[in-house]
This record gives sequence, structure tokens and C-alpha cells, in this order.
Amino acid sequence: MSFTQSIPSLIRQRISIRKYQNVSLSTEVITDLQSQCQNQQNPFDADVTLQIASSSTAKLGTYGMIKSAQAFITATAVRSPSAYFALGFEAEALVLYATSLGLGSCILGGTYNKKQFQNSLSIPEDCLFPLVVSLGYPADQDSLLSRISRKAVKSATRKPVESLFFADNFQTSLAQVSSSLRDCLEMVRLAPSSQNSQPWRLLVTDRAIHFYAVDEKPMHQIDLGIAAYHFDAAARYYDLAYSLVLLEPPLKSTPFVYCFSFIEE
Ligand SMILES: Cc1cc2nc3c(=O)[nH]c(=O)nc-3n(C[C@H](O)[C@H](O)[C@H](O)COP(=O)(O)O)c2cc1C
Repeated sequence: MSFTQSIPSLIRQRISIRKYQNVSLSTEVITDLQSQCQNQQNPFDADVTLQIASSSTAKLGTYGMIKSAQAFITATAVRSPSAYFALGFEAEALVLYATSLGLGSCILGGTYNKKQFQNSLSIPEDCLFPLVVSLGYPADQDSLLSRISRKAVKSATRKPVESLFFADNFQTSLAQVSSSLRDCLEMVRLAPSSQNSQPWRLLVTDRAIHFYAVDEKPMHQIDLGIAAYHFDAAARYYDLAYSLVLLEPPLKSTPFVYCFSFIEE
């Protein structure tokens, strides 16, 4: 996937948008998004399908949370141990691609009518279907409901570095790392997450970054997948060679749940 702007700039400018202009997406934009959906891959070896659904052709409800969405990305996956990570990873790639096209977006893991989407778009009941992403050109002013929701979960803020990134064990906050690695970690810190929970905790060792989650909730696994996309895309941008691997948990007695690691090549 190639972007018209740098990944750090797209990550910094993206915020969740819940109210859109009544301006349809052109056929070119829809076709472009569809082709990005088809070509998107993930490093988790999981089978994810992203599709674009136009709001004009299907009845797609968001319980009033989203106003005038022009389209949705639906994200489904075949059940597997890494499926939720992979879903988050691929969905976030499309979110940032949409940002590069000037589109606003909001990932919805709770406030969408799953049954209605499944029926309108013939999504099979046996696959995982934990989220959709609303799309459209941002309205000049956000809706009242969105402003209330943003305030409730403090969407504009993120936890400080010292409570997210650790060196060798979870008692020692990370002190010195190279400036490129620090920039990659900052891209993780800025990632969106369900209810702005930021459930990732990263253990930085000599040649690896181990990603842990605060618990095993599927929605938090999606958040970890989003964080993985931010790290992977930023590492490529800053010319750092890391690849994602699943290891035996490097630290066993921790309050956190091991998810995956990025190892320096
Ligand atoms: C996995 C996931 C699920 C989310 N589900 C919802 C949702 O159901 N409804 C909603 O309004 N926002 C939802 N959000 C948006 C978050 O609330 C938002 O990303 C977070 O507050 C940070 O704000 P920002 O995206 O503006 O940076 C979700 C985000 C993620 C990553």
C-alpha cells in the first residue's frame, strides 16, 4: 500500500470522525478503496476479508452514533488464534489509507447494528465480524453525541510513555532507545483503541519489542493489532528492519498477557 503522505503525518492527523458531509464518495474513490481492501495483507497468517459497503445501497445502522456515513468498511475473519490481531491490523491500514484520501473515519466495535449489517450485506454468521469502519468527508462540526463520547473517554489524550513502554521487565520504565525506535513507539502510543483504553504494554529488550495486552478481551486484541500496524508501518518508514513473530512468552509472571513480538532482523 502506498500513501500520498508519510505514515507519521497520517497517524498524527487521524482522529475518529462521527459526523460527515452529505457528499457521496465518487466511483473512483470507492474503486480505489475496494482494491486496497483486496490487496491488504497481515503478518499473522490469518484470513481477513475487508469490503466496502455503500450506505446508499444497504440499510446500515449505528444507533445514532454516526451521522451521514457515506460508506462502511466491513471487517470479517475466519476464526483462528490470531484473527482479532489480524483484523485490527488490516482495518487500521485502510483507516490510514482513507485518511490519505481526505476521508474521515471511525472504527466501530460496539455502536453498529451487527444483525442489520449481516442481513443487508449477506455476511456469513459463522465468521468473526467484530467491527465496521464508517467513512465520509468530515462535517465542519462534530455531532453533540460525538463530542460527549470523546470527552467521556478522553479521546484527545494518550497515556504517558512511562506507563506503556518498559525495559526488560514491567517494573522498569524505558529509558534510552535510538531516536528512530522512539519515533516508532510514539506511533504506537498515538494509535486509536476501543474506548481509548490503550491496552498495550510493550517490553523493549536488546533486539525485540514484545507486545503484551492488559487482558484477553477480543476488542483489546483488535487494539493490539492496530498497534502492530502502527509499529510495522512506522518501522518501514524509519528504515528499521523488524518482523513479527509469535514466541513463547518472554516473561511469564506478569499482570499482562503476551500477544506477539517484533524482532530486529
Ligand atoms: C477497536 C475499536 C473499537 C471502537 N469502537 C467504537 C464504537 O463502538 N463507537 C464509537 O463511537 N467509537 C469507537 N471507537 C473509537 C474510539 O473511541 C477512539 O478511537 C478513541 O476514543 C481515540 O480517539 P481518536 O480515534 O479520535 O484518536 C473504537 C475504536 C477502536 C480502535
